[in-house]
Amino acid sequence: MRALTYHGSKDVRVETVPDPVLLEDDDVILRVTATAICGSDLHLFRGKIPELRDGDILGHEFMGIVEDTGSAVTNVKTGDRVIIPFVIACGHCFFCAKTQFSACETTNTGRGAILNKKGSSPPAALFGFSHLYGGVPGGQAELVRVPKGNVGPFKVNGSLADEQVLFLTDILPTGYQACLNAEIQPGSSVAIFGAGPVGLMAAACARMMGAADIYMVDHHQYRLDFAQAHYHTHSINFDDDEDPSQLIIDRTQGRGVDASIDAVGFEAKGSAIETVLTTLKLEASSGEAIRHCIAATRRGGIVSIPGVYAGFIHGFLIGDAFDKGLTFKMGQTHVHKYLPELLEHIENGDLRPADIITHRMKLEDAAEGYDIFNKKEQDCRKVVLTP
Ligand SMILES: NC(=O)c1ccc[n+]([C@@H]2O[C@H](COP(=O)([O-])OP(=O)(O)OC[C@H]3O[C@@H](n4cnc5c(N)ncnc54)[C@H](O)[C@@H]3O)[C@@H](O)[C@H]2O)c1
Ligand SMILES: [Zn+2]
Ligand SMILES: [Zn+2]
Repeated sequence: MRALTYHGSKDVRVETVPDPVLLEDDDVILRVTATAICGSDLHLFRGKIPELRDGDILGHEFMGIVEDTGSAVTNVKTGDRVIIPFVIACGHCFFCAKTQFSACETTNTGRGAILNKKGSSPPAALFGFSHLYGGVPGGQAELVRVPKGNVGPFKVNGSLADEQVLFLTDILPTGYQACLNAEIQPGSSVAIFGAGPVGLMAAACARMMGAADIYMVDHHQYRLDFAQAHYHTHSINFDDDEDPSQLIIDRTQGRGVDASIDAVGFEAKGSAIETVLTTLKLEASSGEAIRHCIAATRRGGIVSIPGVYAGFIHGFLIGDAFDKGLTFKMGQTHVHKYLPELLEHIENGDLRPADIITHRMKLEDAAEGYDIFNKKEQDCRKVVLTP
């Protein structure tokens, strides 16, 4: 089959690789009909995530038709159309029982990215996301082996096009969880840092949940303009306004917003010192976005972090967070938990995630898709690939 494989920083290729086979009784083999490139794939593409090996197949946002099932699979059958959560969960461990699927303690044979691990279990395995997360081949491919076939695959009816439901695999539940963690209610004010696909899905969900004021911060004007047109956000371009959190404080009677959402993560731009420190590996993450979140949030408010962080940040102002009495919530998305309600919102027309797609390409051209999305060229917001 054909698949997108990793060969080093900014070197991904579509190659012919062996077809996947059923390894466990509860495996499913899926024929992929649509797959997308995620901002998280860009961390891998840029060589920022360790334990990625030559030839690893990437991709964790994918859907398709069940091609084959192991003898223990009862949830789906050959021919079913399903989306696949990017998180691989067993459905019955301590964490799965709490619906904290991304913390599943049985699926990941890697160690996770935690530094001070002690004897704790790693988080759930993820598709196509390095050997820290299990080294599971990803779905930017014609076929993919899906472990935990009774837990992950989620059936979608035939009346919705692939692109309307594809983002149920990751970015839509991620934006939704970010808003739930931010406890957005009718009338809330919220600042979203990062107008990439995750920030845009968060804006869509915040709007749906009745937020009154949504401040959207980025430096790609085309992304800010899209958010303003579709989700009625207030745009703040940090190339023009050097201090976005000051601007937010000024516009909220000097208090700050009820909640901030950091949809940027550890590769945040804007601090020259941190860019140098992270390049030299003296610092693991850039703290630029998280510092603005802390500064922009009112006393007693919430900072919700869907953006991925790694290791340590020197400039993390824990004292400011304490002084303001902030609550922090963060982490990988418990995708499975939100699927039924989010599908309903898509069916009702409350959410139209496909609106953000700008690039529809063939899987064969996936390397070009990575390049365009990485450089934010051609006003790229989201790339969908079809095998
Ligand atoms: N928690 C999860 O389960 C989960 C799931 C999917 C993605 N993610 C993470 O969410 C983050 C965003 O993903 P994406 O697909 O939207 O990626 P993306 O790279 O397309 O978007 C990131 C946006 O942040 C902007 N940005 C950079 N520095 C900034 C700053 N200092 N202030 C404000 N904006 C800034 C960029 O210009 C870009 O538009 C990534 O870290 C990704 O790994 C997490
Ligand atoms: Zn992702
Ligand atoms: Zn589990």
